[in-house]
Amino acid sequence: MTEQGFPAGEIDTSRPHPARMYDYYLGGKDNYEVDREAADRIVDAAPEVVVGARANRDFLQRAVSFLAERGVRQFIDIGTGIPTSPNTHEIAHSVAPDARIAYIDNDPIVATHAGARLLGTGNTGFFLADMRDPQTILGHPTISELIDFDQPVALMLVSVLHFVTDEEDPRGMVTTLGEALPDGSYLVLSHATADFHAEKAGEVTAVYKNATAVLTPRSHAGVLEFFDGYDLVEPGLVQVNHWQQEVPEDEPPVGVYGAVARKR
Ligand SMILES: C[S@@+](CC[C@H](N)C(=O)[O-])C[C@H]1O[C@@H](n2cnc3c(N)ncnc32)[C@H](O)[C@@H]1O
Repeated sequence: MTEQGFPAGEIDTSRPHPARMYDYYLGGKDNYEVDREAADRIVDAAPEVVVGARANRDFLQRAVSFLAERGVRQFIDIGTGIPTSPNTHEIAHSVAPDARIAYIDNDPIVATHAGARLLGTGNTGFFLADMRDPQTILGHPTISELIDFDQPVALMLVSVLHFVTDEEDPRGMVTTLGEALPDGSYLVLSHATADFHAEKAGEVTAVYKNATAVLTPRSHAGVLEFFDGYDLVEPGLVQVNHWQQEVPEDEPPVGVYGAVARKR
């Protein structure tokens, strides 16, 4: 078991945190009044955010099962979030008990909960790091301990890149992380979009601006660029509720794109 804890006293409860707001959307209890107020403002402006968060979570679970069933035994899950069961390691282990999972998040509250809930086995680790510093992630001892870069790896960037602004060069980060992966590895990525609710994007991004992260929704073409150098698994980059499952034609858009893709 690998753990890098974080003193609870350093957790900022004066401003909303995306991880805790997301926990609230998913019906969790690991959130504070300040998070609920911000999340409620978003839900008032764009009620589909709650459906989108749950659809995103379901996508993550389907993607991990899909990859574990195809023999992937290593997962680097960046932007883990406050653990919501079943998490990546529980799904992977239900298929392959020997699967190894490195979780990374930059929010101390996630570290606090990760200690209790993510680290049940010897082949799961968590550490605090920022995806804007991919070299530190790749060089971290927990990664060396858990991940063999001679074997296929699933890099999971699920609902995290929209917290990286264009100026911070998210494509460069995905490229740096992807270069470390051997051929036959996979990228699992989902991302918020305003393609379907453009008129609400202003209010949603304004609430996040007040939080500890800026939200940058991206278009289908903008999200697709992250998959340069990868072959998309069917059905390609779609709204997450459509990924490898049938949904009724009249189901409203969820506003989150997602795909799984294989490194060339
Ligand atoms: C919406 S949650 C997604 C959780 C999980 N991946 C899922 O899809 O269910 C986004 C997570 O990304 C984390 N995050 C945001 N910016 C980050 C960054 N620059 N580096 C690492 N983690 C980040 C947040 O703290 C939060 O826990």
